[in-house]
Amino acid sequence: MTATKGAGVPAAVGRWAGSDDDVAPTVEDLDVIVSLAKRRGFVFPSSEIYGGINAVWDYGPLGVELKNNVKRAWWRAMVQERGDIVGLDAGILMAPQVWVASGHVASFADPLVECQNDHLRFRLDELPGTEGLSATDLRDPDVVERLGLRCPVDGGPLTPPRRFNLMFRTFMGPVEEEAAIVYLRPETAQGAYVNFKNVVDTARKKLPFGVAQVGKAFRNEITPGNFVFRTREFEQMEMQYFVRPETAPEHFEAWLARRWDWYAGLGADPRRLRFREHAPDELAHYARRAVDIEYRFPFGWRELEGVHNRGDWDLGNHMKASGENLTYFDPATEEHFVPFIVETAAGADRAAFTFLIDAYREEEVRGEKRVVLGLHPDLAPYKVAVLPLLKKRPEIVVLCQRIVSDLRGDMMAVYDDTASIGKLYRRQDEIGTPWCVTVDVDSLEDHAVTVRDRDSMAQDRVGVDQVKVHVLGRLSAARSA
Ligand code: GAP
Repeated sequence: MTATKGAGVPAAVGRWAGSDDDVAPTVEDLDVIVSLAKRRGFVFPSSEIYGGINAVWDYGPLGVELKNNVKRAWWRAMVQERGDIVGLDAGILMAPQVWVASGHVASFADPLVECQNDHLRFRLDELPGTEGLSATDLRDPDVVERLGLRCPVDGGPLTPPRRFNLMFRTFMGPVEEEAAIVYLRPETAQGAYVNFKNVVDTARKKLPFGVAQVGKAFRNEITPGNFVFRTREFEQMEMQYFVRPETAPEHFEAWLARRWDWYAGLGADPRRLRFREHAPDELAHYARRAVDIEYRFPFGWRELEGVHNRGDWDLGNHMKASGENLTYFDPATEEHFVPFIVETAAGADRAAFTFLIDAYREEEVRGEKRVVLGLHPDLAPYKVAVLPLLKKRPEIVVLCQRIVSDLRGDMMAVYDDTASIGKLYRRQDEIGTPWCVTVDVDSLEDHAVTVRDRDSMAQDRVGVDQVKVHVLGRLSAARSA
């Protein structure tokens, strides 16, 4: 696979694929994360009581908090903190012509092979023996024969590859006929393109400006797997940056660096991040240039986010297919032109999964194993747990309840009295709660509580009335660190 360093991106920004030896993942065994996710209520198999449905997962009470926090952090960085990007929430179902004009009906496909004995289907590029093949090789109809590829399960003969379109189709209205076919969107991006004129007219933005969107996308993946890494229903966080064509390369470089910083700033270890440039024959049908931000998962380096220079592919094709004028008028130069698009395309599930994996650590404390999710406080499902040292003392419980209900106006906080204090601390460490507030007998006299830090385990004595200010201060310090 070609791995070239993009012109202009500072070396210090990160490592490029091929420039370094392999890096160890935070956890070698993915099952450690899968089991924690299930045990603590982050992620459950969908429809589990019916035996589950392949490649769909449900986010439990803690998982939904983590994923919401990831989406919020993304929105804050991409929309709230910038004046040049506005939000959008387009429909999942769109006019079917959108997917013809975008090229997805013709080209959004993976190479599929089928075993002629057991009829299992595989993505060609994931079969053992295809590592390092170029996209051109993968399109060769004789590749199976040429490389002697066999079914990885029973060794049976495989069919030549055929292109399998990944879009889910359904019918709109009561009649199931060809004319009623609609698609579940395979990317959120198209919503921004078909609304380009609406946004220009209403938000009155001048180039360069962006449209950000978070929402579900669906792909009928041939080989989903690795837990929530590749699923058939997932959420994307995508931003389309509309620019003057000649400035696209410099905006591309700038977004690469910003998106890297976003992951690193929220706690992903930069040693486990890298860029990977797409080879020319590997580029998606819409891309002039594409660089993936990859993360070192327990199952190898894999894409976390893609940054794409989509040129005028999308607006140009929608303009031709719809007959609408999607050019931009630049009042300064008095020119009409089709803007280029620099896209940052991230997955909310993949980002949450990455932060979860990267946060995991095991330590020994006083001869005992301590499991800690060192999540960035912004991402932690609960910011604070309020714990009574003695749950038999009603005054202590009442004070705990008062503190927790005061905190709940500003953040997710939880009260727990179902175990001894040591066990309660371990439980909160394992789900990533950055601070535990403990109310003890002295609290009734001195009106102060202990605030314990998850990472350092240091304890501060803080006045009851100061708890919220104290935690908000630490949250804000973590955000600006
Ligand atoms: N609009 C461009 C686009 O969709 P992509 O690289 O195909 O680009 C962007 O997808 C991101 O969406 C990926 O980097 C990944 O984080 C996420 N994603 C894509 N397919 C996924 C799947 N089957 N399961 C989970 N996340 C997925």
